[in-house]
Amino acid sequence: MTESAAGEPAAQVKEAALAKLMDAARDAMTRAYAPYSGFPVGAAVLADDGATFLGVNVENASYPLAVCAERTAVGTAVAAGARRLLAVAVASRGEPPATPCGACRQVLAEFNPRLVVVVGGPSGPWTRYTLDQLLPHPFLHGGAAHGV
Ligand code: THU
Repeated sequence: MTESAAGEPAAQVKEAALAKLMDAARDAMTRAYAPYSGFPVGAAVLADDGATFLGVNVENASYPLAVCAERTAVGTAVAAGARRLLAVAVASRGEPPATPCGACRQVLAEFNPRLVVVVGGPSGPWTRYTLDQLLPHPFLHGGAAHGV
């Protein structure tokens, strides 16, 4: 198994599990609150016990207060007790489909710097990355959340 500089094993997640996660993200996208940007995003994270947690972007009349779908999904997972994530699916209508923004990459890295990231549109094929491809050198400061 490949090891990153942080010593994390690459997450092993089956395609069928990722397909289910992407379906969940696409469904969540329909509930995004994005009246200002008109750019709804849905996210679903898979925790190491198999549980799935959802997030959507939540915008505000004070524009900079918008929160991304990925970060609301992480918040939902952590509130339920999750500490280690295996994968995140992100659904949007972007072309190409949105990958997590820089801030979200850092937040996701806290809970697994090598998690699997899949991004897709409202339907059809999706693209698979690992988080360390998207954010090669996260700030982990000891990795308190996952014992690195
Ligand atoms: N957005 C996300 O939800 N996730 C990302 O990774 C990128 C951007 C949201 C924030 C804002 O509500 C809208 O997309 C347009 O930037």
